[in-house]
Amino acid sequence: MRTLPGYSPGMRTQVGIVGAGPAGLTLAHLLHLEGIESVILEDRSREYVEQRVRAGVLEQGTVDLLVAAGVGDRLRREGIVHGGIELRFGGQGHRIPMSDLTGGRAITIYGQQEVVKDLIAARLSYDGPLLFEVAEVAVHDLDTPRPSITYVHNGRRGELECDVIAGCDGFRGVCRDSIPPGVLQLHERVYPFGWLGILATVAPSTEELIYAYHERGFALHSLRSPKLSRLYLQVDPYEPIEDWPDERIWEELHRRFEREGWTLHEGPIIEKGITAMRSFVAEPMHYGSLYLAGDAAHVVPATGAKGLNVAVHDVKVLAEGLVEWYGSGATELLESYSDTCLRRVWRVQDFSNFMTTLLHRLDVDAFEDRLQRARLEYVCSSEAAARSLAENYVGLEKV
Ligand code: FAD
Ligand code: PHB
Repeated sequence: MRTLPGYSPGMRTQVGIVGAGPAGLTLAHLLHLEGIESVILEDRSREYVEQRVRAGVLEQGTVDLLVAAGVGDRLRREGIVHGGIELRFGGQGHRIPMSDLTGGRAITIYGQQEVVKDLIAARLSYDGPLLFEVAEVAVHDLDTPRPSITYVHNGRRGELECDVIAGCDGFRGVCRDSIPPGVLQLHERVYPFGWLGILATVAPSTEELIYAYHERGFALHSLRSPKLSRLYLQVDPYEPIEDWPDERIWEELHRRFEREGWTLHEGPIIEKGITAMRSFVAEPMHYGSLYLAGDAAHVVPATGAKGLNVAVHDVKVLAEGLVEWYGSGATELLESYSDTCLRRVWRVQDFSNFMTTLLHRLDVDAFEDRLQRARLEYVCSSEAAARSLAENYVGLEKV
């Protein structure tokens, strides 16, 4: 085995995975089921990744994949299945009956950190290599069939030699930036607003998610369990969170969700933070021996609830390609990995942009405000328009 200067002789594996988010952990699990070895390197601690509050909406296809992969027991027990959402504007609610419009498909509310916990537990149950708190991760020799990953773990330098590397290290990871300049085409749109998200220990004031359009800005009522509410407000992304004491958050939520005969219940806020809204795609999602997956390759504004779902789809496609390659040497699926994924990525980008511009206060001009209102009314009065929203929201089977 080759050794880089300053590094002790290291490990060897088939697939080196950078990042233990939903993408990296799901990939490792799918490969394990097919007898393919991998090592996951994660720069944060196990506690941190298991507590990080993020997504909460799983598409039908994501649930089906996790259940089929044997990591869906708790998800099936504790996940809350929803067959509709409410769009609220002008002081009125309009239900989009997603399951009725999509032949029975639904979403499941189950926190991303719960998915991560289940996947870590599965990984550790068979002693699958998973290193937390790894520093100075760098990928090398990507244009060769013997790439490697160097890192520091417990104060020791290590090198991991692999057949391929999966860059599952999120938007701010190192893998994407290791691709030589000029290879990737980057597409980006940064929205002039962010989301202030809170987690509150109070029973949700609604059974189904409420997406509210209001002249003061967008608001979303989601949940995590019968005792835990998750709520979001459209805010200025540069506003410091200190400017949002709890009383101000609740006051703003009350105003934006206002509807006769409906009450928003308050409770202690146990977590809050502001997230920027952006659309981003790096293409192709493949260079030499490196495959990018999930947020490392693309980011969507959270309004469509798609980020985690499309990350899981990427690694499903990657796992199928690797299984074919290790099984027969055929490279067709790996070669088409990027194109296959990008078809769904761009569909999801379009849907997320549609939901974002449908529901946020855009502050363009009065004409745009009226167009937005016309679009909202159309989605709530035309079955064809509602069905289009519904089939994208629950997740398209084929793209
Ligand atoms: P990540 O979850 O970002 O995982 C990447 C991992 O790599 C992390 O653990 C990170 O610590 C690690 N890492 C980074 N750099 C390195 C390095 N140099 N070395 C080693 N490890 C590294 N999506 C939905 O589908 N539905 C929703 O309802 C939804 N709501 C959201 C709400 C919010 C507020 C936010 C912020 C996001 C939301 N998303 C949602 C998006 C979703 O959370 C992400 O798309 C998802 O986390 C992507 O998974 P990933 O594994 O690709 O990346
Ligand atoms: C969430 O519950 O965190 C959530 C729900 C719906 C979204 C985004 C986030 O569109």
